[in-house]
Amino acid sequence: MKFKFQGISIDLLYASVSLLVIPQDLDVSNSSVLCNVDEQTARSLNGGRVADQIRKLVQNFEGVAIL
Ligand SMILES: *[C@@H]1O[C@H](CO)[C@@H](O)[C@H](O)[C@H]1NC(C)=O
Repeated sequence: MKFKFQGISIDLLYASVSLLVIPQDLDVSNSSVLCNVDEQTARSLNGGRVADQIRKLVQNFEGVAIL
């Protein structure tokens, strides 16, 4: 779902995963989260997974300005 909230563009994604309880510290970069998910969920999780991977690969990420 795409919408604007107070002038900020929001792209809200939905994912349906095979877990009875979603832990607060769910690691979406762990490939096991992709088990038994439909294609739409895999695509929804992709953005966060790629962002996590980039964060892990970029050294000194905290010093990098996000534009
Ligand atoms: C990935 O998730 C599975 C299932 O929750 C867990 O057993 C495994 O230890 C996790 N792997 C890593 C690298 O965290």
